[in-house]
Amino acid sequence: MADVAICFFSATGNGFYIAKEMKKYIQGDLLYIPKIIGKDLSEYKKIIIITPIYLFAIPNIVKRFINSIPKLSNDTKVYIVINYAGLVGNASYYIKSFCAKKGVNICAVYKVAMPLTYTLFAEELQLVVKRLIKTSPKRVKKVADKINANQQMKIRSNCFAFLSKLHDKTEWKWGSFAKEKFQVAASCDLCGYCKKICPAENIEIKGGKVHFKEQCISCLACYHRCPQKSINCGHKTIGRKRYVNPNVNLDEMYI
Ligand SMILES: Cc1cc2nc3c(=O)[nH]c(=O)nc-3n(C[C@H](O)[C@H](O)[C@H](O)COP(=O)(O)O)c2cc1C
Repeated sequence: MADVAICFFSATGNGFYIAKEMKKYIQGDLLYIPKIIGKDLSEYKKIIIITPIYLFAIPNIVKRFINSIPKLSNDTKVYIVINYAGLVGNASYYIKSFCAKKGVNICAVYKVAMPLTYTLFAEELQLVVKRLIKTSPKRVKKVADKINANQQMKIRSNCFAFLSKLHDKTEWKWGSFAKEKFQVAASCDLCGYCKKICPAENIEIKGGKVHFKEQCISCLACYHRCPQKSINCGHKTIGRKRYVNPNVNLDEMYI
């Protein structure tokens, strides 16, 4: 076991990519968050949590993970790395407060911009995607250097606090997101890949059909990664380009 836990959640590979890049500079165990909920991490001296931003806050599965962390020693250093696509609102302060309530004190929150995956309304420009992918290694290295230097940071609230509050206000709706919004096209060959990759175990295949349950976290893994592109959100997404980070093999994430 290494001294550092590099814990990450990722649906479409951006977070996994950041975690893998980070491992080049920080000797640590790569841990996929859905698999370590409730695990004892107290042996680690440093814990790095790499999380995407969902509606100016963090996904429920990351909250569940943080809630499940048993009491850590005061010497354990916890760092948050936000993986976002342009707008974080007051997410840094939101996370700091959320962690503090659970007795987890964080040293710093860093941000790494990556391509947008919430593309149900519109695709991100390919030029922007390519540029962000190309420049991401530099950004990750900068963050890794700061973590290696044990930097501390003052995390203050900002004027966008109202945006992050939106997250909490709408939280009750998130579980039924896929059930209400997604349609499965006739091209679905019931391969079961969506069920296998769903981090929330929200997908069942029965009676020759894909069923969404009520514990969706809106990560869009099924939407982006269905081999047949059979999962759609209304007519607009039919035929639309899907996104996965091109520099990772997502099937390695679960190992
Ligand atoms: C439901 C949902 C909500 C999102 N909300 C935000 C947001 O508020 N701000 C932002 O900058 N990016 C937002 N994003 C974009 C992701 O945080 C970003 O694309 C991230 O890189 C995805 O990481 P992954 O590939 O590891 O899953 C959202 C994505 C999803 C799926």
